Parts: sequence; structure tokens; C-alpha cells
Amino acid sequence: TKPSSITIDGTPYPADEWTNVPPSIISHYGRSLHLQPNHPLSITRKLIESRFPSFQNHNNLKPVVTVGQNFDSLGFAADHPGRSKTDTYYVNKDTVLRTHTTAHEVDTFRANTNNGYTITADVYRRDAVDRSHYPVFHQMEGALTWDRNDFSSRGELTKQILADVEKIPKHDLVVDNPNPTFHDVRNPLQSEHHSPEEAEAVATHLKRSLENMVVAIFSEADKALAAAGQGAEAEQEPLKVRWVEAFFPHTSPSWELEVWWRGDWLEVLGCGVIDQPLLNRADVPSRIGWAFGLGLERLAMLLFGIPDIRLFWSKDQRFLGQFDESKPARRFQPFSKYPAAPRDVAFWLPKAGPVITETPASVSSAPSPAGGQPTEPPTTSEPPAFHENDLMEVVRNTAGTDVENVALIDSFKHPKTGRQSLCYRVTYRSLEKTLTNEEANALHEQIRQELVSRFGVELR
Ligand code: PHE
Repeated sequence: TKPSSITIDGTPYPADEWTNVPPSIISHYGRSLHLQPNHPLSITRKLIESRFPSFQNHNNLKPVVTVGQNFDSLGFAADHPGRSKTDTYYVNKDTVLRTHTTAHEVDTFRANTNNGYTITADVYRRDAVDRSHYPVFHQMEGALTWDRNDFSSRGELTKQILADVEKIPKHDLVVDNPNPTFHDVRNPLQSEHHSPEEAEAVATHLKRSLENMVVAIFSEADKALAAAGQGAEAEQEPLKVRWVEAFFPHTSPSWELEVWWRGDWLEVLGCGVIDQPLLNRADVPSRIGWAFGLGLERLAMLLFGIPDIRLFWSKDQRFLGQFDESKPARRFQPFSKYPAAPRDVAFWLPKAGPVITETPASVSSAPSPAGGQPTEPPTTSEPPAFHENDLMEVVRNTAGTDVENVALIDSFKHPKTGRQSLCYRVTYRSLEKTLTNEEANALHEQIRQELVSRFGVELR
């Protein structure tokens, strides 16, 4: 049975059949890690903001937004899987905890007379449990527009954008940009709204601006590595990035930027030419421009060498005491690592039915809202589909930051009954102390019972 209302930051909201925000999530409200002095997320934010000196920085926008702000205003289709209850925290059917900072784009464009802005904020997604995913994380959005009304023609506007490109500091980054700017099917020009020349100019400005930002972050990361005596491999290879075609409902064409870092291509951000209908909805139809969105944790983890995303929430001085915004970045020195306590849980699902364990790739530190799978709304006669994110949440609610990883290790379908059996390994590990066997067992037993009462599974 659900309470009839849910209170967030002192404001009560009516609850309904969509409400799925647990107390463990609400308890993160208001920490504002991105504003906490000397916090690595705040340091990373400032480093990026400093590369866009003329932009207005919005850092205090509240996380409760309407479904309209989070999805409709950005052109998400009515049946877009990102809207599903398995991926998104609903306060009620009309209200969500924002899944991305893009939720504020339309309002910011509407209010803004300046051309450029950033928005940094906590965002919320139901997701996997591992060292790079946490249901609350931080995104930074950036956008820049030009106003057609300031120019006598599209040609003049294009000229100005290209002149602005020349003002971006030069860099010696190796850039791999293999695809043409537009692709008819995969990455179309918004041909009803933009001339190819002006959209091309916007794309060039976008790419150069973000390359310049990446140089700032990664050269800082290289310096930190060198200072830690681990710079050798970093020095062998020049910094290199590549542009990959992408899709977002709110930009076209769209790209992801990947950076070659210590032997791997890392996805750093998503971006593109702003969807013109979005600007029209914001009552600024004469504007054209670009936007990007990035996951701050991911960049901070690589800048400082932070191995586990849970650490950002730590109040332990052994963590917080290592960061100083007045000094060049230094590598994080892990304090002693406490032992892991793995425990398995195996169970039969209540009946033959859909099992959803997929977690698609991501843009930020977590999958993009485009992630996840659509599910049918639950009906009273049929048990709902079992979605892995529901199990993840039971684990998070119970074990909080004492759980490091949850992984499906076995799945089995009974040949006769068709019933499905799943086995998950839950790895408990505190970042701050050794968990005793008794503590791990108690957490695990609570989780087992919760799975029975919430999903009607039969423990094996
Ligand atoms: N909103 C996208 C996400 O969260 C990121 C993005 C922002 C992409 C702005 C393009 C432009 O996945």
C-alpha cells in the first residue's frame, strides 16, 4: 500500500499508481555536491565552466520537474522507452525527478536573453548497481545560440558563426571526424529550418568548443598522472578524440565525443544542433544553436582517478580531504580497501513472463534516457514484467552505499514448466569500514525477503 502523498523538500505531492520514488532517493535531496567547495564534482564543474567564460551558469535548479519539461518539451515520442517507470523516478503521473539537465532547456531559452548558458545539477535514473552507476548523479548541460534577427541574411549569420569559430583557442588535439556532418537517415539536417551552410557552421563551432573543453580536462588529468609518477604512458600518445554519430530527440544532427584515454575509447558527452521546434516552443524561433550534455562523475573519476562512484557521496575526510580547488588536480590516493562480501540470491520468477535485464549503452555516467525497454503498465490480473532495475532498487534501498555491484550470474528456463530462474551475485563492500559477516548476512536476508514480498519470487 502506498501513502497518499509524497513529500520532497517540504513540498507534498499527491501520490498515484505512477509514484515510485523511494525514501533512499529522497534522502539524497539537497546535498548539492556540485556546489560543495573543494568537492571533486565542483572542481570539475568549474574547470568546464572556465572554458565557456561568457556563459551564464545555472547551478541551483530544483530536481522535481514535470513530465512535460523532462520529455514532451524535448520531442520525446509518447511511447519513448525513456519514459518508462522502470527507468525514471515518478513523483506521480505528471511529475518526475529529472533524468537529465535537458529538462530545463526550454525554460532557460525562454528566460534567457544571453546567448550561452550551462546548467549543472543532480539527475535521477533507475539503473544498474556497479562502480560507475549510482541512481543520483550530476550532469552538465551547455548551449549556445545565435539570433537570426541580428543578421541581414543567413549568409551573414553563417559568416559570423565562422568568425566566432576563429576566436576559440587553437589546440593540437588529434581529431578523428570521419562522417560527413549530415546523413539523410542517420543524422539529418533539419532541412525545413536550416540551410546546410548555417547548420554546418554551428556544427563546426560546437565541435571546436567541445574539443577545447576536453583539452582542458584531459591535460589537467595528464598533469595529475605525471605528478603521481604515472605519466609515462600518457606522454607516449598525444591526446586524441573522435566524433561518432548519435541520436537524441532534442538535437539533429547529433554526435557523441569519445576520448582515447589509457588504452580505451571513452564516451564523454552527447551533443548536436538544437531541434528547431524546441526553440519555437521556447518562444525564440529566430534562434539557432548547439547544445551538449555530459556526466560530471565520469569526467571527475578520470580526472582524479576516483575508482568508485559511491565515493562522491562520502563525508569521510580521508576522501574529501584529498581535493583542493586552489591547487592543480592530484590523483586520488585510495585509502585502504575493505574486503568484499559476495552473496548470491537465486529465485524462480512467479510465472513465465517477460524478463528485462538489458541496460543499453550510455552518454553520460549512466545510460541516456533513450535507454531501457518499454514495459506495459501493470494490470491487476497479470504480474508485472520483472525488470532488473526493480531488483537493483531493492538492493540500493536496503544496502545503500554498502553495495558495490549486482550482476546476473545465471539464468535458466525450466524445459517443462517454462518458469524462469535467475541468480544474482550481490557484492557488499563498504568504502569506509570492514563489513562483518553478520552485517552482510543481515543485509542479504533483508533483500531476499523483500524480493519475495515485492515480486512474489520463490527463493531457491
Ligand atoms: N540529454 C542527453 C542525455 O542525457 C544529453 C544531451 C544533452 C545530448 C544536450 C545532446 C544535447 O543523454
